[in-house]
Amino acid sequence: MGKKSVTILVILMASACSPQVSSPPKDRSSSTSSDNEYYTSLPLKELMHHVIDYSAEGVWKWEGWVSDKNGQRALFPTNDEEWEQAESAALTLAEVTNVLLLPGRRVDDPRWSAAVEKVRNSALAVAKAAEDRDQDRFFHTGSGLDDACESCHLAFVSSPAS
Ligand code: HEC
Repeated sequence: MGKKSVTILVILMASACSPQVSSPPKDRSSSTSSDNEYYTSLPLKELMHHVIDYSAEGVWKWEGWVSDKNGQRALFPTNDEEWEQAESAALTLAEVTNVLLLPGRRVDDPRWSAAVEKVRNSALAVAKAAEDRDQDRFFHTGSGLDDACESCHLAFVSSPAS
C-alpha cells in the first residue's frame, strides 16, 4: 500500500454507429478467432500497476488509520459520498478482474483462475460492506482483498509485489 504517483492513460475508442444493422460486415462475422476481439496488448506488469492496483488503491485509501504531524486520524469514509466512492472502486475492481481471464491474458493454471475469483469475491465483499456502511466489515474485507492479491503473486511472481 505504498504511495505511488500514478499516470493513467485511458483510451476510449468510440466507433460510429451505423443506422443500418441489417448488413454487418461479412469478414467480421466469419471470423472464429476470439483472441483478436479483445484489447490485451497492455503488458501484464502495466495492467497490474495502472489498472488493478489503481482500482484496489481506490478501496485501500479509505482503510485504516494514519499518524502524521497532525496526530492520528481514521481514513474510513465518513459520509455517503465517500462510501459511494469506496463502493465504486470495489465494484470497478471486481469487474476488472475479468480482464485477467481473457484469452491472451489468462494463464492456463487452476491457481490463476482461483486467485482471480478470490480477488473478485473479496472486492464484492468490500463493495457490500461499503454499501452497508459497515466500517468493521469494510476494514476486514479490505485486508482480505490484500491476501487475495498475494495468493496470485505468491504462485506466479518470483519476487512477490506489494
Ligand atoms: C491472477 C494473478 C494475479 C492477481 C489476482 C493479482 N496479480 Fe498482481 N501481478 C501478477 C503478476 C503475474 C505480476 C508480475 C507481472 C510482471 O512483472 O510481469 C503482478 C504484479 C503486480 C504488481 C507489480 C507491478 C509492477 O509495476 O512491477 C502490483 C503492484 C500488483 N501486481 C498489484 C496487484 C493487486 C493490488 C492485486 C489485487 C487487487 C493483484 N495484483 C492481483 C498477477 C496477479
